[in-house]
Amino acid sequence: MDTGLRKKLDYDALIERKNNYLMPVLATYYTKPLYVARGDMQYLYDIDGKKYLDFFAGVVTVNSGHCNPEIAEKIIEQVKTLQHTTSLYLTQPVVDLAEKLARISPGNLQKSFICNSGTEATEGATLVAKMYTGRYEFIALRNSFHGRSLMAMALTGQYNWRVGNPYSFGVNFVSSAYCYRCSYGQKYPGCNLECAKDVENIIRTSTSGKIAAFIAEPIQGNGGVVTPPPEYFKEVEAIVKKYGGLMIADEVQTGFGRTGKWFGISQWGVVPDIMTMAKGFGNGWPIGGFMSTTEIVDSLKPGQHFSTFGGNPVASVAALANIEYIESHDLASNSEVLGKYLKNKLLDLMSRHEIIGDVRGMGLMLGVELVKDRDTKAPAKEEMVKVMDRCKDKGLLIGKGGLDGNVIRIKPPLVITRENCDTAIDILDEVLTGVEKEM
Ligand SMILES: Cc1ncc(COP(=O)(O)O)c(C=O)c1O
Repeated sequence: MDTGLRKKLDYDALIERKNNYLMPVLATYYTKPLYVARGDMQYLYDIDGKKYLDFFAGVVTVNSGHCNPEIAEKIIEQVKTLQHTTSLYLTQPVVDLAEKLARISPGNLQKSFICNSGTEATEGATLVAKMYTGRYEFIALRNSFHGRSLMAMALTGQYNWRVGNPYSFGVNFVSSAYCYRCSYGQKYPGCNLECAKDVENIIRTSTSGKIAAFIAEPIQGNGGVVTPPPEYFKEVEAIVKKYGGLMIADEVQTGFGRTGKWFGISQWGVVPDIMTMAKGFGNGWPIGGFMSTTEIVDSLKPGQHFSTFGGNPVASVAALANIEYIESHDLASNSEVLGKYLKNKLLDLMSRHEIIGDVRGMGLMLGVELVKDRDTKAPAKEEMVKVMDRCKDKGLLIGKGGLDGNVIRIKPPLVITRENCDTAIDILDEVLTGVEKEM
């Protein structure tokens, strides 16, 4: 099959050139890395034309599908009209985008700063929290992931994503609401939400009592789709407000219809003070952002923050077209409906496969935790590698997460169909059966 590439390199040649010219820090999935040549909505094609059902969406990013033609057309038009000026000049696309964000975001979050990535969004969100409160201490969650700058890594609660100390100080961690591996040895709902209550203990014992903000992903993505109970964020919010802090929701993975609503935090009935976004914001186009209320963002004076590429016309058009596509095709509802369908099917797999210790998540952000045995809950790390490889061989791409890399992450483009779900479940069923036989 013609992959449409201008210049195709054979597999071995590409690997050799990658190794020669790209830094080894860029790790790839799979024992034999996948050489992707083309994308079409929920499908990817490798260099030999083999078709894959993409259930990871370029790490939870391509919400409206790969190379979505409706979106691509608008991007192409903008590329031919105006590509870059910086925010030192007036351009319309970034204003259109910010206005749309204000319309779809919860509460009175009104003003946006558009940047290039989730990491940059984390930096900006914490900067504005510091400027507004005049404080510098943050509460973050264990098992979290907020990006790769020094500040973002300082807020990240996983050792394997924290490299190259020292970090900015003032970050204190509390246990996340990881019910399957509860730090307090409790079982929801009879747990009195100890993890939420501990936020107050940490503020009182590990900070000056004056925190700038609490930051959390509504559902922890890289951490293994850790999904808090319904009361969790309300309880935390009350504590954070009591101590004068702001609530920052990291919507980099949970935003833009992923969980069944525009933003994940709305599933918990909480309106954050600041929200960050990236990934599904641009459907694959490099764009990030953070937004807050008029009062809070007024603390950043003109010129105190800037990003050369931030809000460039092409990225802004791409993100707006993506949001409009999600809206006009009601992808959030598709995520909710198919998410429930898929979760039930995964729970059914769990009843037949001992290797599955837990199934969790919301909408099309689902996690399947693999364990060596259900009593010890020992992470099935080696088995996870086999599951990934074999799913790929059968044409299904899934993601990997969790502190021990033993959680299957199912986060497809939101355009998938019921038939796609059935195909994925059949492949997983077959693969898990084979892997279990070897345990
Ligand atoms: C929840 C969350 N926040 C922030 C980031 C950082 O985003 P980026 O890789 O665009 O810098 C990520 C990336 O995986 C993420 O998952």
